[in-house]
Amino acid sequence: MNGAIPETIAFDIYGTLIDTHGLIAMLQCHAGDNASRFSQLWRQKQLEYSFRRGVMRQYRDFGVCTAQALHYACLSFGVSLTENETSSLLNAYRALPIFEDVTEGLGNAKDAGFRLYAFSNGKAADIIQLLDHADISRYFIDIISVDEVQSFKPDPLVYRHFLEQAAAKAENAWMVSANPFDVIGAVSAGMKSAWVQRSPDVIMDPWEIVPTAVIQHLSGLAVAITGWRKA
Ligand code: 2OP
Repeated sequence: MNGAIPETIAFDIYGTLIDTHGLIAMLQCHAGDNASRFSQLWRQKQLEYSFRRGVMRQYRDFGVCTAQALHYACLSFGVSLTENETSSLLNAYRALPIFEDVTEGLGNAKDAGFRLYAFSNGKAADIIQLLDHADISRYFIDIISVDEVQSFKPDPLVYRHFLEQAAAKAENAWMVSANPFDVIGAVSAGMKSAWVQRSPDVIMDPWEIVPTAVIQHLSGLAVAITGWRKA
């Protein structure tokens, strides 16, 4: 810890705590052997739409980005969904599974005395549903959503919003994310950031802005932050 000030941690949700590729079995019914590629394209387009909407100042919430990206993936793979099938997939997206290291990682971080927040592109109502479904809501002081300022990561505005809402100073606040653009966005906004490299295949963007720490599993987060402070 830095003196008496506890570290504040912003946990990214989609891709960091929640597995955005957790619907492969459902997607197999529609896209067959292309289910995995369909899932990748769905996520890629969802993020691309959020970036573009942020830059264009054409805000529609993340649920809209998710739904429109699903539509795009369907067009790309020649998949035709009924209204009910579309609703089922979008409802299932609010009950995606967590990665297996999440509960232990959150428990360690809370036990270490850190102040834990969920901080996401997603609307608060969707994040509440995801965290409740995964039974991890109890670890968080609050949920902070970019929806409150109508922009998306990595707009510096959303990281400032997080700091204001969490009453945290940037130098004592960590963004924990598996998404390289989120790590770079937070560091660029003055925060610290731990990149969760969930697979050796995932590459950090080779920019001049680098993560403060790199971990492979969330279970190592508390030790990484404490170790960084002591170094
Ligand atoms: C999130 O904000 C970036 O999708 C990621 O949860």
